[in-house]
Amino acid sequence: MTETRSPSSAGLAARGTTTGSAAWNPASWRSKPIVQVPDYPDADALAAVENRLASYPPLVFAGEARKLKKALAGVAAGEGFLLQGGDCAESFAEHHADNIRDFFRVFLQMAAVLTYAAAQPVVKVGRIAGQFAKPRSNPTETIDGVELPVYRGDIINDTAFTAASRIPDPQRLEMAYRQSAATLNLLRAFAQGGYANLENVHQWMLGFVKDSPQSHRYETLAERITETLNFMRACGIDSDTVPQLRSTDLYTSHEALLLGYEQALTRVDSTSGDWYATSGHMLWVGDRTRQADHAHIEFCRGVKNPLGLKCGPSLEPDNLLRLIDLLNPENEPGRLTLIARFGAEKVEEHLPKLIRAVRREGKVVVWSSDPMHGNTISLNGYKTRPFDRILREVEAFFSIHRAEGTHAGGIHIEMTGRNVTECTGGARAISADNLSDRYHTHCDPRLNAEQALELAFLLAENLKRERELKAAGARPVAAVAV
Ligand code: PEP
Ligand code: CO
Repeated sequence: MTETRSPSSAGLAARGTTTGSAAWNPASWRSKPIVQVPDYPDADALAAVENRLASYPPLVFAGEARKLKKALAGVAAGEGFLLQGGDCAESFAEHHADNIRDFFRVFLQMAAVLTYAAAQPVVKVGRIAGQFAKPRSNPTETIDGVELPVYRGDIINDTAFTAASRIPDPQRLEMAYRQSAATLNLLRAFAQGGYANLENVHQWMLGFVKDSPQSHRYETLAERITETLNFMRACGIDSDTVPQLRSTDLYTSHEALLLGYEQALTRVDSTSGDWYATSGHMLWVGDRTRQADHAHIEFCRGVKNPLGLKCGPSLEPDNLLRLIDLLNPENEPGRLTLIARFGAEKVEEHLPKLIRAVRREGKVVVWSSDPMHGNTISLNGYKTRPFDRILREVEAFFSIHRAEGTHAGGIHIEMTGRNVTECTGGARAISADNLSDRYHTHCDPRLNAEQALELAFLLAENLKRERELKAAGARPVAAVAV
């Protein structure tokens, strides 16, 4: 529904490299067709902000992106699991330390559950510190006969339904950059400064989750982890001697949608001489902007970060293979994560043929499941997602991979550490009537902490099953039939 056009150059000079089939530089996307691009009334003001951003410090370093890619290469090889999640859209108004901490806690709990079950590393990637720009189904929104440009994320315009709020404002790029820097700073402190120490496994439980069935399951698991740590301590291994026990790696990711912002933060890494996006460790291309000859694929193919590609129902195997060749021409392990988001009703129809095409061509990818974006419905005027549909898509994702003999490598979810009522269902059976109680999202409905933990236990059961099948040397029929 959105227009396709070529934006004018913001005047950022860019040195070129030859990557893939044609010359690439951080601005080469500007000569390609593009969708989902905001209509800035003042192109000079936008260019001025982009030029300033281009002179600011990077948010992440190339070495970190390479470390993540290496970890993802392990996942692609069947040894590890990718946990990716966070807000649908970060917001300026909700930029509080408590929100970041609560997200981090639930994420750590989920990771503990998964690591224990899979007995494999869990690669933690937040949808955070940069997840601001949103692709939309319609360029405008009409309320009571008034039509205004749609809200496109805080990095672009404001949610308030007034004409002034909906005008794209270039200053917001700078605000998003500064918020991302502050968020990342706190995340780094939590991850490295002691909060993530495994010895704190009991303290990550959030108050409002305490009396739920999930909390009892979690406490049992935390108890086992503590016993293991006590045993290891008796053997001379503890968090003083083994730094991996007292800190963790948490990476950042977001959709590479607002390309002027991404270009301004794209830098040459002095170690390798390669271009890296420094706005986050991992970028992904959304389901609406993955046209092979368009701007978003052009931009992403030239940066060396790990990439995600959303795969929705309209993606056919040939098209996917073409995109893989563009985004990962060297077939580098860890470079590309395919994020399947079909919906519980459609996953069986679409996923197997993509898996088979990828395997037939010998492409190395991480397969991840986004069980959120294909399961959105409208209830009582709220956008919501029934938790049972989310779980069904995840179950189907795992059983398809079991049947195909491939590794179900990850999960990609919209979640928050807060006690919101945005997705129906879960242990507390949030109903259509409860949605209005604490519906805070700026865009899509998120899992609350309790639902996120419940999902982690379901994932854990499936990962354990995969591990047991592997140990038993079971080879599904479909895997040898190709
Ligand atoms: C998203 O991840 O927020 C999103 C818009 O997803 P998709 O591109 O898969 O619709
Ligand atoms: Co979303």
